[in-house]
Amino acid sequence: MVEDKIEENIIRDNLLTDFIGKDIEIFKTINSTNLYLKEKAFQISDEGKVVISETQTQGRGRRGRSFYSPKQNGIYMSIFLKPDIEIEDVTMITVIAAIAVNEALEKVLNLKTQIKWVNDILYNGKKLCGILTEASIEAESSKVSYAVLGIGINVNEGENGFPEELKDIAVSLKSILNKSYDRNIIISEILNCFEKYYKLLNDKKSKNEILNIYREKLCMIGEIVKVIQGEIVYYAKVLDINERAELIIEKDDVKKILNSGEISIRKTEGK
Ligand code: BTN
Repeated sequence: MVEDKIEENIIRDNLLTDFIGKDIEIFKTINSTNLYLKEKAFQISDEGKVVISETQTQGRGRRGRSFYSPKQNGIYMSIFLKPDIEIEDVTMITVIAAIAVNEALEKVLNLKTQIKWVNDILYNGKKLCGILTEASIEAESSKVSYAVLGIGINVNEGENGFPEELKDIAVSLKSILNKSYDRNIIISEILNCFEKYYKLLNDKKSKNEILNIYREKLCMIGEIVKVIQGEIVYYAKVLDINERAELIIEKDDVKKILNSGEISIRKTEGK
């Protein structure tokens, strides 16, 4: 039978990390694992603490949106980090998390997924996982004082598991692979993969390798996408990402760099 509870001992048995997950806290319910770590930030001295919950009552997504977090069906976890980076490079945390989730799903489930810039993991165009990195900055140095990395994955939602507004855009591991999964094993592997890349963050050569892995998994290079920035909406072609994982796009023969803003892939060709 598949273990249907988050169990610290199973996660630990499969953990190969030095510091990520040395301290793990598990909740039955919580408002948001990201919020919890942000509130605790100044009481935590070491990085690597992991908080996981069976459900979230106020699961947070990017741009003030909520993240659907039903009981015992998903992975809702946050990692507390103290990266030695400037605020301009904070997107690299999301990048590393995205390739770690990708790699873990391939290792544990033999599942190949894609990345939608900057923080979604997709399967066949539907969202399987969302990532939210929230950071606090040191006022004098513009360095990151801490970052909270949140990862949410739809795991065991069945056929009718999503509410109306999500059912055409979200997907779960169970609906892809037709069986339930032990979330503990997936969690350990994500933490293992994440630490491996996180340790390389400050090495320039490794950073390029990380960006290359990310680039390979991006589902939108060469495609026409709809760019939505607040009230402004336009179509542009995605050319590449740069050394900060910002998106390089082209509109009317003019290149532009996107470091924020919402971007969605167009479904029809020809714009
Ligand atoms: C997004 O899709 O915009 C990002 C979703 C991030 C969801 C995770 S679930 C664990 C952590 N806690 C939260 O409140 N959000 C993140």
